[in-house]
Amino acid sequence: MEQPPRPTTFDFHGVCMTEIVTGNWDNVQDFKARPDDVLIVTYPKAGTTWVSYILDLLYFGTVDPDRQTSIPINKRVPFLEMAKRTLPTGTETLNQLTTTPRLIKSHLPVQFVPKSFWEQRCKIVYVARNAKDCAVSYFHFGRMNKSQPDPGDWNSYLEKYMEGQVIYGSWFDHVINWWDKKQTCSNIHYMSYEDLSQDLGREVDRLCAFLGLSPSAEEKENLKAAVKFDNMKENKMVNYSTVPSMDQKVSPFMRKGKVADWKNHFTVSQNEKFDEVYKQKMKNCTLKICSEI
Ligand code: PPS
Repeated sequence: MEQPPRPTTFDFHGVCMTEIVTGNWDNVQDFKARPDDVLIVTYPKAGTTWVSYILDLLYFGTVDPDRQTSIPINKRVPFLEMAKRTLPTGTETLNQLTTTPRLIKSHLPVQFVPKSFWEQRCKIVYVARNAKDCAVSYFHFGRMNKSQPDPGDWNSYLEKYMEGQVIYGSWFDHVINWWDKKQTCSNIHYMSYEDLSQDLGREVDRLCAFLGLSPSAEEKENLKAAVKFDNMKENKMVNYSTVPSMDQKVSPFMRKGKVADWKNHFTVSQNEKFDEVYKQKMKNCTLKICSEI
């Protein structure tokens, strides 16, 4: 099937966006969250699919195992703000979802989260990933996904990324503003990709404590095996091989799944410049995310 041309970005209330995010804006803002909805939010490429799959298994792995082998993850955990012309919007998909709870994916900066999520005091899981690995992963995602703007070459992409001129804007604003919100909001669980990579069992326990779930030891072991990178990479229901706009031959969605792959991309001078920008932008923020483990 012929693909539409790659989208262009524009400023949207101070954040770089494309039509695919803003095209259903009124319905997104008016979305009626339910108290038991669970919202999974990340800056792009920070581990959304990984955490979505973990949550899906925690809630439905035992009660509805068929779901895991028959429904792709993007349908099990719909993307709230998705507004691709050729597909039902995220809000339409969510309004037809029959599961309880509804697991909902979003990349929205905190100021754009529909107010009903706050009013209903929904549980929100925020996943942060170090800025350098996000940049690398986002660059390769742009290469393989024709729904993304053309990323150009790595050096010019990195410049755009540092300036926040990529979809969803600045990594810095995203993680900092969510971190600030978390300080006054007990229904946000703020976790990191790096912590998940380092100790999956501990992070699953923390998630369960936050969500009020108590899976059996066997369920946890099954979950930990299922969400290993190599297993997810082979699993057609979570590796996005069913999405036509993604050319997995250019770069697989499940690309490397490593902490510190940035070292294979950043030159010494790119790294020095990035560290300078990072120091400046993060100077008033207490959040620490390691970029190697
Ligand atoms: S998206 O498009 O924003 O929803 O992408 P997202 O799912 O947030 O991030 C994709 C990156 O997460 C990696 N990934 C994993 N890493 C380790 N273990 C597991 N199980 C796992 N699942 C997904 C995926 O490979 C992308 O990172 P990179 O660095 O590109 O490999």
